[in-house]
Amino acid sequence: MKSRSDRLLGHDSKGSAFLTPLASGQVTLRQLPNEGGSPRETVLDAADRVRRQTERQYLASRSSIRYCMPVKRSQINAIMQSADEFIRRHGFFLPSFAYWTPDQWRTRGRECAEIVRNQLGWDITDFGSGDFDKVGLFLFTIRNGSPANWKSLKGKLYAEKIMVVQDKQITPMHFHWTKSEDIINRGGGKLAIQLYNSTPDDRLADTPVKISTDGVLRTVKAGDVVHLDPGESITLTTRLYHKFWGAGGKVLVGEVSLVNDDKTDNRFHEPVGRFPKIEEDEPPLYLLYTDYARYYKG
Ligand SMILES: [Fe+2]
Repeated sequence: MKSRSDRLLGHDSKGSAFLTPLASGQVTLRQLPNEGGSPRETVLDAADRVRRQTERQYLASRSSIRYCMPVKRSQINAIMQSADEFIRRHGFFLPSFAYWTPDQWRTRGRECAEIVRNQLGWDITDFGSGDFDKVGLFLFTIRNGSPANWKSLKGKLYAEKIMVVQDKQITPMHFHWTKSEDIINRGGGKLAIQLYNSTPDDRLADTPVKISTDGVLRTVKAGDVVHLDPGESITLTTRLYHKFWGAGGKVLVGEVSLVNDDKTDNRFHEPVGRFPKIEEDEPPLYLLYTDYARYYKG
């Protein structure tokens, strides 16, 4: 049986609303809650669909939604190869599942369910910009728990990512509702991070920002840019807006955090796309975590 995500018609920019077709010809809109609770499902009947013309237009009409431009698989493969070389050059190594081929993924069973369930692995986004080098990010999630652990306080409560940030390549302004994260410069150029507090209605505040860099407290002005040299890190608490880019070269960046959930926990200041649609112009070198649903049958 095909999985739900295998037959997705579309999703919103935060990955928190999904449209899936039903055998009856109707379409289900499934919305994930921001904090706890159960997903809400609404069945859209034929009249709804005609009125809205297409599911894609319906999603695009939602205020925070923006679709990613399609990205070619050949570009994804090239970004993976380049990032892998850069990571190795800094003496950091990815776990073995990073290099499983698509055919190997087809044969994997339930023993690998944690990788799929907790969204571990390769993750590449241009945030819908259509220009990865200008606005984009390479990430690999090395470890992660389930967002359910946020409430139960049981199991894996932490996450770790390794990222590659190119010189002047921007990750847009955002904060996290639930996750606190340490962002670490693990080598290469400087990492520049612009900071703002958020207002109660999620806008940029003009108040001073209290930060901790490697356990040292200080206060900076709203919108100030903090530079991290290799070895340095900053703690980004919940609701603290941050935007970052490489300054003076490509940077290897680590992230150590509370459990990560990119589907529900990111609040971008301007709407962005998060999960690009892939144009399959060549076979995948390795699978993005968003590819698992099509290959993993465990
Ligand atoms: Fe972040």
